Amino acid sequence: MYERNDPDKEGMEINMTKQELSALLREMSLEEKVNQMMQVAGGFFTGDLVAMGPIRDKGITEEAISQAGSVIGVYGAEKTRRIQQDYMEKHPHKIPLLFMLDVINGFKTIFPIPLAQGAAFEPELAEKSARAAAKEAAVSGLHVTFAPMCDLVRDARWGRVMESTGEDPYLNSLYAEAMVKGFQGKDLKEKYHIAACVKHFAGYGAPTAGRDYNTVELSQHTLKEFYLPAYKAGIDAGAAMVMTSFHTINGIPATGNRWLMRDILRKELGFDGVLISDWGAVEELICHGYCANRREAAARSVKAGVDIDMMSGVYAEQLCEMVRENVVSETLIDEAACRILELKNRLGLFENPYKDADESKEKEVILCWEHRELAREYARKSFVLLKNEGVLPLAKGSRTVYIGPYVDNRNMIGAWSFTGDTDCVATIREAVEERGEEAVFCQGCPMLGPDMHLEGFTEKTEEEISREECERMMEEAVQQAKRAGKVVLAIGEHRLQSGEATSSAYIQVPQIQMELFRRICEVNDQVAVVLFAGRPLDIREIAEKAKAVLLVWMPGTEGAGAIADILYGDFCPTGKLPMSFPYCVGQVPVHYNEYATGRPYREKEDRGRFHSGYLDIPNAPLYPFGYGLSYTRFEISPVELDRNSMRRDEKITASVTVKNAGQRTGTETLQLYIHDIAASVVRPVKELKDFCKITLRPGEERKVSFSITEDKLCFLTENDRWESEPGEFEVFIGSDSTTENRAVFTLTED
Ligand code: BGC
Repeated sequence: MYERNDPDKEGMEINMTKQELSALLREMSLEEKVNQMMQVAGGFFTGDLVAMGPIRDKGITEEAISQAGSVIGVYGAEKTRRIQQDYMEKHPHKIPLLFMLDVINGFKTIFPIPLAQGAAFEPELAEKSARAAAKEAAVSGLHVTFAPMCDLVRDARWGRVMESTGEDPYLNSLYAEAMVKGFQGKDLKEKYHIAACVKHFAGYGAPTAGRDYNTVELSQHTLKEFYLPAYKAGIDAGAAMVMTSFHTINGIPATGNRWLMRDILRKELGFDGVLISDWGAVEELICHGYCANRREAAARSVKAGVDIDMMSGVYAEQLCEMVRENVVSETLIDEAACRILELKNRLGLFENPYKDADESKEKEVILCWEHRELAREYARKSFVLLKNEGVLPLAKGSRTVYIGPYVDNRNMIGAWSFTGDTDCVATIREAVEERGEEAVFCQGCPMLGPDMHLEGFTEKTEEEISREECERMMEEAVQQAKRAGKVVLAIGEHRLQSGEATSSAYIQVPQIQMELFRRICEVNDQVAVVLFAGRPLDIREIAEKAKAVLLVWMPGTEGAGAIADILYGDFCPTGKLPMSFPYCVGQVPVHYNEYATGRPYREKEDRGRFHSGYLDIPNAPLYPFGYGLSYTRFEISPVELDRNSMRRDEKITASVTVKNAGQRTGTETLQLYIHDIAASVVRPVKELKDFCKITLRPGEERKVSFSITEDKLCFLTENDRWESEPGEFEVFIGSDSTTENRAVFTLTED
């Protein structure tokens, strides 16, 4: 038997040493090692699933399944402890089982969806909420979460944009780092921390035409410049795991892509943790037409360096035989098994296989007051005020009519929150009533209506309501709206309209709700829309007719309270868009940091035709990246530089003075953008390089300074290296990505 450290002996390492792990690996049979590389559904261990269907047909024995190195989808302290105990008793080398799950924007306390988190422009909150989620998940017996998703997104037709923090590599990188730190803490075996998994490597956020799982066409330059930085930030922050992706890149599916996984991920980004496939992706290499059968799929994936096969059973079925036939080298198996053991070791599972699973702690920690408060703060800070012509905030004590399918609805926790419990979510109605405000509530219409069906969901999307009943509901709402001073109309996407496999061609609020919106606007001109969405939508008509639009995304467990806080002016809205809201679908993908063209179009200046533009729509999105209003107004002075040129080892300070010129205390997010005027490769017209949130009382003003150092000027040059090039740069400071508040400086030769 391999030698173990004695954790009780003074001065001894708690974890196993490298030598001990190697000794353990040497003792394991080939089957045992390959079993470590298999992930199966937790249901096999809870008794909810037996080895049947595809898995049994593929000849994977029950014994192999009972020795799978990890499971997905079981949680709960009591359950996971029981499974672990049973598993270890049977395991020949007493190697603990890993419990994994998607803990995306919370475990039981659900925070706003990741895209909304991006809108807070406050990565510190992402770290705090990931820490809270890790704590709830850890006491429930989980060891690994499949988060953060670090995919940069530009195409709102893709339903998974809700899992990203947006279109900007810098902002996404800050969030990726913060989330990894929050989940993992300083050391994985610390109490109440779990391992993070950066996904989906790489470029999954750019599926052609926004259709999920579709091919990705990215130049290597764009991949490296825009898409890789956030994964890198997560990896540099110490993420223990990375997940492959479903798509094809450079003509080769990511999961079997040696260049992507070995050259880029392992060598260039220096990742030495566990690489897991996405769900069933090893087997999907066959559908891609990249492998003829499961045998080839196993070989391609293991050669690409994929350590764990999530849920396809291909490794377990094929690898042992292939090693025996010398088609796959056992060194590859050892490499993968070793990384998996190392992860178990980093989590401290060899000493304490239950880690933090604790029933009494579950009661104490889950949905505790502290987590709920954090969820409410985060929700408030994620809301983006897109328009306001004097309707908001509502005067306290005034009578307001609340209309819409979201008025009395608990389903606002987003698509990836299946561990969350909507019974713990208050409705807007309850939140407003709790404040004692005078209000009338009516639903107005169903969420989707009789003419709209979401295909393929096992979950029932809504109760069936007839056309006549819809008409009656709308008429009642119209009558209420007629008598109202102000109307708050809570409408938007159904919770299941965003998330995985929810690509949409129209990205609109469901038509039945638009019908309600039009009818309400006809009888009342003081309509404030509270917009629920998992993605940027085409809201031109809403933006035109409503007097105010408050975007609340899918705000989570404390969403309703947070909405009431903002509607009644207890807090000013502070959120800024992390992803552009397109003018219409034809403009998608639209993003602020596009490369300069040879024929730029300057709105109002250019009359001719031969510019990069459209005949029928503007180039600018409806609402740009970084945009968001407040209940107060800020004035920003022209940019001042302390000097006009710098060498690489020097810095320039760029400053503005910000004044709160309105009547309320408010927070502005000042954004620093840089544009490299001429370079060896074409540069984006603007790139976010820094930002700063500043809170000012009415009339108060303050100077805000940013340091411009060489790292802010580096990019992937024609030499395929991150470096700076001397020349002129524009620096912009403003309240969103359209700011023209600028100054120019020069980076000189050293
Ligand atoms: C998704 C991943 C997720 C995995 C496990 C897949 O369908 O693409 O993001 O982590 O399922 O739930």
